[in-house]
Amino acid sequence: MRSDDTPLIRLEDYRPSDWLIDTVDLDISLHPTKTRIRSQLALRPNPAGRPGAPLVLDGDELKLVAIRLDGLLIDEAAYSVTPQQLTLHAPPTRRFTLMIDTEVDPSANTKLMGLYLSSHVYCTQCEADGFRRISYFLDRPDVMSVYTVRLEARKLIAPVLLSNGNRVAAGELPGGERHFAIWHDPHPKPAYLFALVGGALDHVRQSYVTAEGRSVELAVYVEPGKADRAGWAMDCLVRCMRWDERVFGRNYDLDVFNIVAVSDFNMGAMENKGLNIFNDKYVLADPQTATDGDYASIEAIIAHEYFHNWTGNRITCRDWFQLCLKEGLTVFRDQEFSADERSRPVKRIADVRTLRTTQFSEDAGPLAHPVRPRAYKEINNFYTPTVYEKGAEVIRMLKLLVGEAAFRAGMDLYFERCDGTAATIEDFLGCFAETSGHDLTHFARWYEQAGTPTIVASGRYDAAARSYTLDLAQKTAPTPGQPEKQPVVLPVALGLVGGSGDLPLATTSEAYAGNGIVIFDQPSLSVTFTDVAEPPIPSLLRGFSAPVRLELDLDEAALLRLFSADSDPFNRWQAWQTVAMRALVEAGRDPGRLDALVTTGQALATGLRGFLTTQAPSDPAFAAQVLRLPALGDVAREIGRDVDPDAIQAAHRRLSTEIGHRLGPDLLDLRERLA
Ligand code: SER
Ligand code: ZN
Repeated sequence: MRSDDTPLIRLEDYRPSDWLIDTVDLDISLHPTKTRIRSQLALRPNPAGRPGAPLVLDGDELKLVAIRLDGLLIDEAAYSVTPQQLTLHAPPTRRFTLMIDTEVDPSANTKLMGLYLSSHVYCTQCEADGFRRISYFLDRPDVMSVYTVRLEARKLIAPVLLSNGNRVAAGELPGGERHFAIWHDPHPKPAYLFALVGGALDHVRQSYVTAEGRSVELAVYVEPGKADRAGWAMDCLVRCMRWDERVFGRNYDLDVFNIVAVSDFNMGAMENKGLNIFNDKYVLADPQTATDGDYASIEAIIAHEYFHNWTGNRITCRDWFQLCLKEGLTVFRDQEFSADERSRPVKRIADVRTLRTTQFSEDAGPLAHPVRPRAYKEINNFYTPTVYEKGAEVIRMLKLLVGEAAFRAGMDLYFERCDGTAATIEDFLGCFAETSGHDLTHFARWYEQAGTPTIVASGRYDAAARSYTLDLAQKTAPTPGQPEKQPVVLPVALGLVGGSGDLPLATTSEAYAGNGIVIFDQPSLSVTFTDVAEPPIPSLLRGFSAPVRLELDLDEAALLRLFSADSDPFNRWQAWQTVAMRALVEAGRDPGRLDALVTTGQALATGLRGFLTTQAPSDPAFAAQVLRLPALGDVAREIGRDVDPDAIQAAHRRLSTEIGHRLGPDLLDLRERLA
C-alpha cells in the first residue's frame, strides 16, 4: 500500500542500472533489537549505463552508521543519506568498494519484510524489495552479485545459522557464548533472493545425488518439536528434484538445499537461493491433522519453490514487470509435476476451478490487469492470480501451439541462453520462436491484453455432404484502461463425439494444426470437417486448452452424452458441471424456478448412476470432482449482477437433495467400496 503521490513506475521507462555490484560481503551480527550489518560492495560502472552518473542506493527505514570508500572515510559533502536513499554524488568512474554499516531492529519489524524476529527465529523476506530494509543497495533484480555472508549470534538463541549457498566455515568466538557461520553462494543473484535464518530449530535431513552426480545434503528445518511432521515435505522435495531432472533436464547446483518452515511468514513461501523459507502450514503434515488437500498443496508448493531454482533464480527477471516470466512459468512447472505425480485430469480440473474462481473474477473486475502489467506504484500488489495462474495458462497454450518437441527444445534453449541473466518475456518467447519456426508476435498479445476472452461456438451437420461445420467467434470485454480488444491466439483442442466415441477428424482448414487442435486467432472462423458419418456432438476446449469462457449451446441430453462418452476426462467433468451450473443459475436468478431442479436432479442422477458403479471406484479422485456441484461463488460469478445469495443457496441445496435422494444407496455403496 503506497500513497497517491508515490510515482508510477512504467515498463517503457526501464533503463539499465548505471552501476553494477559484482560481489557483496555481508557481516551480520544478530541481535534482537540492534542487529549490525556491515556490507562491502564491489562496484563498477555498467557499460550499458550512463557514464559519470551518481550512485543512488535504495533504503527503507534504514539508519546509516558508517560508510567508507576503498577503506577510507568519505567527506560528508560527497554523499547524502536519508532512511530511503544513500547517494554518492560523484563516485569514482572505475571499480571501487563501498563499505556500509547499518543497524536494524528485527523485533520491531512487524511488516515481516527485510530482517525480522518472530517466534524466536531471525528470518528474512526480501522479495520484492525487502533487502533495502537491511542495507543500502541497488535493490533491483537486474543487479546480480555473488554473495558471501558471515552470520554471528548467541549460540543459545540461534544455534542454527543459515544463508544462501554452501557453508564454508563455522566456529565459536572467544568466550564460547557467540558463534558464527560463513556462507558463500557462487551463483550471482539479485538482492531479492538473499536470505538468512537464525534460531533454535529442529530438522530432518537426507542425502541426494543429482543425475549429474553431485551430492547434495537436503534439510528441512522446523520449530522445535515439529520435526515429526516434516517427513512429507522432504519426500516431496526428493520427488520434485528427480522430476525436474527427468522432465526439464534441470539439476540442482549447490552442495546443500535447505528449507525452513516458520510460523510467521507473509508470503506463502519464498524461493531464496538454496534456502527456501515457508510459512509452516505449507510444510508440516501428519495423517492426524492434514487432509488429502493439505498433502497435495504442500507437494505443489515445495515443488514450486524448488523449481524456481532454475526459473527465477538461475534466470531471473530484468525488472518486476517481468514477474510472470518466473511465476507463470514456475506455476506451470509445478502444475505439470503434480499432474505427473497424481491424476492429470483431476489436477487440471482443480486448477481450472481455481482459475475461474480467482482469476476470471479478477479479470472481470476493476483490478483487471495484463499478465505483464505496464505500470505500477507498488509491485507487491501484483502478486496476483493473473500473473501467476493466467501466466501459467499462457505457457500451457504456448506448449500446445508449438508442440511438445519444440517446447522442450525452446526450454532447453532458454536455460542455455539466459542462464545467469535477468531476462524478459521477449527473451523467453524468442527461444520458442526459434525452435518452432512460429512467429509468436500475435501470441505475445496474451501478455499485454487483460480480460477473459469468450468463444461463441455453434455447429451444423450437413447430412447430404457428410460434413460438420464449426463456427467460432471470439471477443474480449473492455477492461479498465483497455477499451479496445484485439483477437488473441487460442489453441482450441477439440473432438467430435459420435454414438460410439470420437469420430476421425478430417479437414482442409488451414487453422487445423493436427492432433485435434484448431488455432483460432481471428475474430471469427469456420472449420468444416469432412467424412463425418453421423451428427456429432462437439467437444471443445478439451483439457481446457485456453483460459476462456465458452458459449456453446448444447442441450442437456447432448451434455449428458458427453459426460458418458467423451474421451476427454476434463470435458466429461465439464459437461456435467455445465448441466448443473445452468440449472443453478436459472433457479438462483429466479427462485420461482426452484421446482425445475427436480427434473435436472433426475437427469443428473440418471447420468451418474452408471458412472458410480462402473468408473468411480477405479478413479475416486475424479469421482470426487464430478460429485462436487459448482461452488456457490462460481454460481454467483455466472449470474454476474443482482446476485441473491439466499436464492443460490436454496438452489444448491435443492439440487443436492434431488440428486442425493435418487442416488442415496449408490453413494453409500460407493463409500463402502472406497473405504
Ligand atoms: N516468489 C514467491 C513465490 O511465488 C512469492 O510468494 O514463490
Ligand atoms: Zn513463485
